[in-house]
Amino acid sequence: MIIQEPGFITPQVLFLGSRNICMYLVMGEQHAMVGGGVAWEVSRLESQLDHYRVDREKIRYLVVSHAHYDHCGAVPYIMKKYPHIQIVASACAAHIMNKPQAIEMMRSVNRQTLNALKRPHRVDDIPLDFQQIPVAHPVGDGDHLDLGGLTLRFFQTPGHSRCSLTAYIPELGMFFPADSVPFPDEERQDLTVSANHDYDDYLTSLEKLEPLAIRMVAYEHGGVLTGKDAGSIIPRSLEATRKQRERIRNRYEELQDLGLLVEEIAGKYHALPLFQLVPFDTLRAIIGRMVRSALGLL
Ligand SMILES: [Fe+2]
Ligand SMILES: [Fe+2]
Repeated sequence: MIIQEPGFITPQVLFLGSRNICMYLVMGEQHAMVGGGVAWEVSRLESQLDHYRVDREKIRYLVVSHAHYDHCGAVPYIMKKYPHIQIVASACAAHIMNKPQAIEMMRSVNRQTLNALKRPHRVDDIPLDFQQIPVAHPVGDGDHLDLGGLTLRFFQTPGHSRCSLTAYIPELGMFFPADSVPFPDEERQDLTVSANHDYDDYLTSLEKLEPLAIRMVAYEHGGVLTGKDAGSIIPRSLEATRKQRERIRNRYEELQDLGLLVEEIAGKYHALPLFQLVPFDTLRAIIGRMVRSALGLL
């Protein structure tokens, strides 16, 4: 089952944002926000925090899963509005979120999207412009944050991006994969593989996650998977990722044309609700890298 509406998913975990861009508030004695969101959802986030009467002073950490614009776009606003909140990310993401080229790219996507959605560029007189993100806690394998009653354990899970980090709350069996694990799709039985950066790394990361006892999968896109769908997510993800590589290899044998193959697969991804808003040229570039990586052509 998938929970797609924001609200409490357990007494200690509040799903914030929207079904497309999800964030989570993990409430131990201290709170941690998981997911860096997008600039154009900041007003919604503030209303939700008001609605659930969240004491912002208790929010000590904000975990950024990876340095893609749709996972860290709200962070510059949150840092300015709540300077006591400390940013947690992988060392690699910390590096990328302070690189002028990456900052410029994310700033440009932010501005374009705010314009396209006709949203203001400021909320509470705080600019929504993307800017560098200083990371107070660079974390990786073996690191954890003690929130008092709940623990956030971290795993480096490269493959979707170089800098991907996943989090896990052992006390709840709750897993926060961001984009590191394939996405479920209501209309398809298959999981949608997101091995954008490196196919082998993606599989190795999934293998690393196999021992986790997972009861809920809290994605940053699409909502929260529960029940047996959640418990079986890692074995099913491994199977889907390996099968997709086989399909890519077989189709490449048939077509003998990398350009055609990428076009065909990008078309299939573009038809999925999750990717409909991604410009086709961008999606073609992303899928092109995934296909070349799957074929060992990088
Ligand atoms: Fe991503
Ligand atoms: Fe994403």
